[in-house]
Amino acid sequence: MSDSGRRYLNLDLGGKVAIVTGASSGIGRAVAEAMAEAGASLVLVGRDERRLQDGLDAVRARGVDAEPVAVELTADDAPATIVDAAIARFGRLDVLVNCAGIFEPQPFETQPLASFDRQMAINVRAPFALAQAALPHLRPGGAIVNMSSIAGYSGFPLSAAYCASKGAVELMTKALAAELGPMGVRVNCVAPGNIRTPMNRHQFEASPEYERSLEAQTPLGRIGETEDIAAAVVYLASPAAKFVNGASWLVDGGWNAA
Ligand SMILES: NC(=O)c1ccc[n+]([C@@H]2O[C@H](COP(=O)([O-])OP(=O)(O)OC[C@H]3O[C@@H](n4cnc5c(N)ncnc54)[C@H](OP(=O)(O)O)[C@@H]3O)[C@@H](O)[C@H]2O)c1
Repeated sequence: MSDSGRRYLNLDLGGKVAIVTGASSGIGRAVAEAMAEAGASLVLVGRDERRLQDGLDAVRARGVDAEPVAVELTADDAPATIVDAAIARFGRLDVLVNCAGIFEPQPFETQPLASFDRQMAINVRAPFALAQAALPHLRPGGAIVNMSSIAGYSGFPLSAAYCASKGAVELMTKALAAELGPMGVRVNCVAPGNIRTPMNRHQFEASPEYERSLEAQTPLGRIGETEDIAAAVVYLASPAAKFVNGASWLVDGGWNAA
């Protein structure tokens, strides 16, 4: 606290309740742990019950309450199931982090439409539906953080469907920021670069050269770690970001700048 009594950096999420999808793996798991460090009570959403339990143990070890919800996010009743769990357990909802996502790289010429539909359903439709279900509880003063990608900024080979989905996340974020801002709900997204998670582990394991080439294209010279993204999400969810709305925050080691 400054001499004037003004607080300049308030990352405190104490007393707040956050839903984090994708909390059973990778970036979502790190986001959940970071939100717990900031004091938030959590609803952890994923499908794999064992990994969800691991996440639950990790956030509870940080001294916060948490509720697991194992659910297929594309199911019609998933949004209500998740929001109802938050309200039943904690009686309020302040933050929604839409982190769950899939990436199915394939040649455009042969990619089945079912793969396009899956990526759109999980990466775009599910965050849309969950935000809709969460909204009545988020206003005023709530925040939504969506997970975009550098693939929402640039086109990549073998990634037309994924890029389409992340481009949609970018503009859905801006449109919701414009519509929900007047209700007191901020909507932002984080656009990660190449981050070491189970999503790309097999690619790195199959081809160390591929990993080296990504490092070489990144001005900071490395693959990102999940905590690099989690810190940005906590900031955007926190009171410190109270005038940040409709932003997309690249966290990519400078990839997109080069
Ligand atoms: N890793 C990167 O380099 C990178 C870069 C840019 C953007 N991103 C984005 O960051 C987000 C997280 O990616 P990640 O790398 O952490 O991936 P990850 O380790 O594969 O985790 C994906 C998460 O999404 C959940 N999920 C997937 N489909 C689901 C469904 N139908 N219903 C419910 N949950 C579902 C998974 O749950 P279960 O495992 O329990 O099924 C898992 O928790 C994604 O939106 C991704 O597009 C990642």
